[in-house]
Amino acid sequence: MAASGSAIGLGNIWRFPFYVSDNGGAAFVFLYLVFVIIIGLPYMMAEFALGRHMHKNGVGAIAGIKPGSVWKVAGLLGIATGIGILSYYGVIAGWTFGYVFKTALTEIDTGFIAQAFGGPTEFGKFASNAGLVIPLFFLFMLITTVVVYFGVEGGIEKWSKILMPILLVLLVGLIIYSNTLEGSSEGLKFYLLPDFSEVTGGTVLAALSQAFFSLSLGMGLMITYGSYLSKREDILESTLFIGGFDSMIALMSGLIIFPALYALGATSAGGAELVFVVFPEIFAKIPGGAIVGTIFFVLLSVAALTSTISLLEVPTAYLVDEFKMNRKSIVWFVSLFIFIVGLPSALSAGASDFLTNFGLFPEYLVKDRDFLSQFGFIFGDLSLSLGALLISIFIGWIWGAGNASDELEIGSKNFKKFRKIWIFMIRFFIPIVVFLILLNIFNVFDFVF
Ligand code: PHE
Repeated sequence: MAASGSAIGLGNIWRFPFYVSDNGGAAFVFLYLVFVIIIGLPYMMAEFALGRHMHKNGVGAIAGIKPGSVWKVAGLLGIATGIGILSYYGVIAGWTFGYVFKTALTEIDTGFIAQAFGGPTEFGKFASNAGLVIPLFFLFMLITTVVVYFGVEGGIEKWSKILMPILLVLLVGLIIYSNTLEGSSEGLKFYLLPDFSEVTGGTVLAALSQAFFSLSLGMGLMITYGSYLSKREDILESTLFIGGFDSMIALMSGLIIFPALYALGATSAGGAELVFVVFPEIFAKIPGGAIVGTIFFVLLSVAALTSTISLLEVPTAYLVDEFKMNRKSIVWFVSLFIFIVGLPSALSAGASDFLTNFGLFPEYLVKDRDFLSQFGFIFGDLSLSLGALLISIFIGWIWGAGNASDELEIGSKNFKKFRKIWIFMIRFFIPIVVFLILLNIFNVFDFVF
């Protein structure tokens, strides 16, 4: 349950459509699904197995298997990645939270709120208002920290178990609405009819990293979650459940966005703002849309919260376990540090010209020039993929795929049937494919389909 809460979040509803849109549509969707199945799921099982076997967080588990070795670096990279991702993820979560008020209040209030937040479908005014987005970011970090501080993650997860089915129903309703709009079928084509001629090395890496990001993989987080699993738990089954649910929500989000995007003629919208433009456009059209919209952003905020909690846990658990620091005091420092790291991201949607047009990586790797997208590429794309590469080598070769398989067999009815193929995947297929995709950032293979 906790792992699903971590996996399902802004990655599905905000990041997935925005990556689809930046990377040419259906071909990206296809690659993403393939990567989830052939890389994400078998890799997730490996993280769970190591965690359950060692009863430790990522760094501790790796150091426990191979004490004093350089492999610890793979765990430490995960800590840095968690901090990096949360620093900008928190900004987007702050937007989401702000949209609760923006959607609910701009209908009623035409004075102060409308001034600060912009009209219901206006994004730029909202996102470029530093006096608004920074407090919202701060607030979201504060809520996350309070939850972790009081150790009430379990309570939040119970709540989200009740709320997520509501989100699901809402998404189904919106899919139906969006696909009955006139002109929506063009959007559906963009989303579902692949054109592989546009696929580049950047697209392939984006699809791979989307699979890792969405499933919360590549930073050892699922090692930590695995450490809470009992030996009776069937890891194969849990993994299929988490993966299936996670991909389903992402696909649903796209089924709403792209038809609506084309039908409403807002095709110029893209990048990180996509979801924050298209959903409000839909809510503006449906009767009672302000209410539906408010509920939608509340649910999305809860989904984001179960992910930010898991992200904050990564550096916190590490400091507590390895340096015996006091959990209750350290969590505030960690969180404050992440907030500071996130400030440039918060200012990069119009508040600061320099940060908005930051650049850094060539356009074939990251289309959007803003700091948040560039920084997101380092941590959400490169660093997660590199982490997964190192951890899969560690599990396949250092701990040993045989040992990992023995762990996976415990509590599992069906794993035996897949044992051989899984061993092949974790030792050869996953590391080689991830390595080649990372290498291709430099466009070494001139492959095009
Ligand atoms: N998987 C989360 C999402 O899709 C984000 C996340 C990534 C959380 C990595 C934890 C670790 O929203």
